[in-house]
Amino acid sequence: MTRKSDAAKRMKELMAELERHNRAYYVEHSPSISDREYDRLLAELAVLEREHPESASPFSPTQKVGGAPLEAFASAAHRVPMMSLDNTYSPPDLREFVERAEKGLGGAAIDWILEPKIDGVAVSLRFEKGLFVRGATRGDGRKGDDITANLKTIRSLPLQLSLANPPEVLEVRGEVYMTRDGFRKLNYEREKGGETLFVNPRNAAAGTLKQLDSREVARRPLEILFYAVAEIEGAAPQSHREALALLREAGLPGHSRMWDCRSVEEIEAALMELDVFRRGLPYETDGGVLKVNSFAQQQQLGQTSKAPRWAIAYKFETEKAVTRLRNIEIQVGRTGVLTPVAVLEPVFVSGSTVSRATLHNEEEIARKDIRVGDVVVIEKAGEVIPAVVEVVMAKRSKDARRFVMPGQCPSCGGRVSKDVVGGEEGIMVRCENLSCPAQIKRRIQHYAARGAMDIEGLGEALVDQLVDLKLLRHIDELYDLTAEKLIQLDRMGNKSAGNLIEAIQQSRSRHLWRLLFGLGIRHVGAASARALSGHFGNLDSLKTAAVEDLTRVPDVGEIVARSIRDFFDKEDNLRTLERLKQHGLNFVAMEDEKPSSSGNLAGKTFVLTGALPAWSREEASEQIRRAGGTVSSSVSKKTAYVVAGEDAGSKLEKARQLGVAVLDETGLRKLLGVG
Ligand code: IVH
Repeated sequence: MTRKSDAAKRMKELMAELERHNRAYYVEHSPSISDREYDRLLAELAVLEREHPESASPFSPTQKVGGAPLEAFASAAHRVPMMSLDNTYSPPDLREFVERAEKGLGGAAIDWILEPKIDGVAVSLRFEKGLFVRGATRGDGRKGDDITANLKTIRSLPLQLSLANPPEVLEVRGEVYMTRDGFRKLNYEREKGGETLFVNPRNAAAGTLKQLDSREVARRPLEILFYAVAEIEGAAPQSHREALALLREAGLPGHSRMWDCRSVEEIEAALMELDVFRRGLPYETDGGVLKVNSFAQQQQLGQTSKAPRWAIAYKFETEKAVTRLRNIEIQVGRTGVLTPVAVLEPVFVSGSTVSRATLHNEEEIARKDIRVGDVVVIEKAGEVIPAVVEVVMAKRSKDARRFVMPGQCPSCGGRVSKDVVGGEEGIMVRCENLSCPAQIKRRIQHYAARGAMDIEGLGEALVDQLVDLKLLRHIDELYDLTAEKLIQLDRMGNKSAGNLIEAIQQSRSRHLWRLLFGLGIRHVGAASARALSGHFGNLDSLKTAAVEDLTRVPDVGEIVARSIRDFFDKEDNLRTLERLKQHGLNFVAMEDEKPSSSGNLAGKTFVLTGALPAWSREEASEQIRRAGGTVSSSVSKKTAYVVAGEDAGSKLEKARQLGVAVLDETGLRKLLGVG
């Protein structure tokens, strides 16, 4: 054999092996190898593909990075229309549906299947000879957008089916979604970057699928699962259950649980179980979908113009409350973004009192026609921030005031402007004045925060006062503060003034990553700050690094790299850094910031959740890092251990689903050898 065919053979083997592990992970929820081993195999394949591009398969699991941006999506016709489902909201409605179906089948017994109704974006994917060739959105049900390139980036989607004899054509239907963790992380990054936030995970998934740049899509945490076969050539399944078994065999992820029901009573009992079960799922569900199992019976029942008569969605109520909108305030963020916030008459919903809710942006307020003084319906779905859903129009008073986005910054009176996104006016309004007090306040607050420079005692109220009294205009001026100056402030005694000065002084010797994060460079979160600090080792090298050098750092993409470059190109920022240096701030990475390849936890990723009995999260993280481990915020197949304390939530659940090892604090201490 030639070297070339050796390589081709090995590439084939690796692809098959990786697909097998993907399947164990995403379909069977029981990982078959360690993340490290998986990454090693993936890296080996990537190297071979680079060396032998002629033998590289476009369906390889390495191909999840996206390609060149599109001008527009092509249109994709659905050979089998993508129908929607009718909804029911109450047991009597459900009973009526079941009785209607039974009647339609001449009183025959029906074998029902109940599955969770996932709240994502409906998609249809086509596999030919087992290879993924095309995927589309629903659109109007007859034709949608061709989003093949975007779908290809989804890690849980195999580009090749794991069937020995795949059918000539297999078109499958499913849902693209984002987990709650993925959504939160994405929004956190967007907030750091001064970008508009997504309203909920579904909105985030839908917005992501609409991106024309699939490389951007690849960076977002999309997932996919399937619940139906729309078209198949060759041996066709005879029932929904058989269809789901086929999907599973093909390596396509599906729901982790379903209920078989034979009567309305069993359906109602199953719905109750589902309502409990779904809370433990890492993604949002809004109800259940009840389906007739037998395809013969499905066919007999047929469909209306828009929905089948053999299936129905049962929606669970999300907790809503009605209250009055007292006012709309404008919050000015660290990057100058003006965000309207609803000030509400306090109301109790989903276990807590809500007095503020996000209104997102001007467009959203106009779309819902929300006016000050209106009676509004608010909703707190799952862990998502409370939102104003709609106005109770019948209760609108004549004095209800329309909202207009201020033409000036409410904090500094400076000019505001709309962001320009891709040459067009975006929806975000930003204050342009870099010395705007509101921005300064939030920047300083971010700098001093626990996760950044950790200056104890320097909270929001104090920062506000210091900036209002003009004692503070730049981060570096923190180090010019004296106890005498501080004593002028409200409720500031000698002792606390002394403590604060001490805390500020101590912050001079913080880790470099903390300083980097604290500077508030757009798109640079704590994790990238750590990566940057470890890679460059000191601020001066980072300061002069070119975009290409920056993108070499793990987790730093083009956008982040450019943003870092922009930051260090600004005169103002350089001046601030120079002053910080004169104040003796640490600009050099410490030993424990450098990637450690020794340490007994080297290469292992940990996720912490819930409150640990003795250690704070920071302490536990520090210990893990010292032993060479990494701490991440979301559970994935790369997680070696989840360390769970009291009130651990969805992360623990996810760990269980993925079969990730779970430790308590004692277990962690043992692992660390610190007793
Ligand atoms: S079956 C013809 N099963 O809900 C029936 N749909 O409100 C096709 N959905 O368009 C849909 N989970 O986007 C089905 N287990 C599930 C589902 C599900 C979520 C979505 C899907 C559908 C919409 C209808």
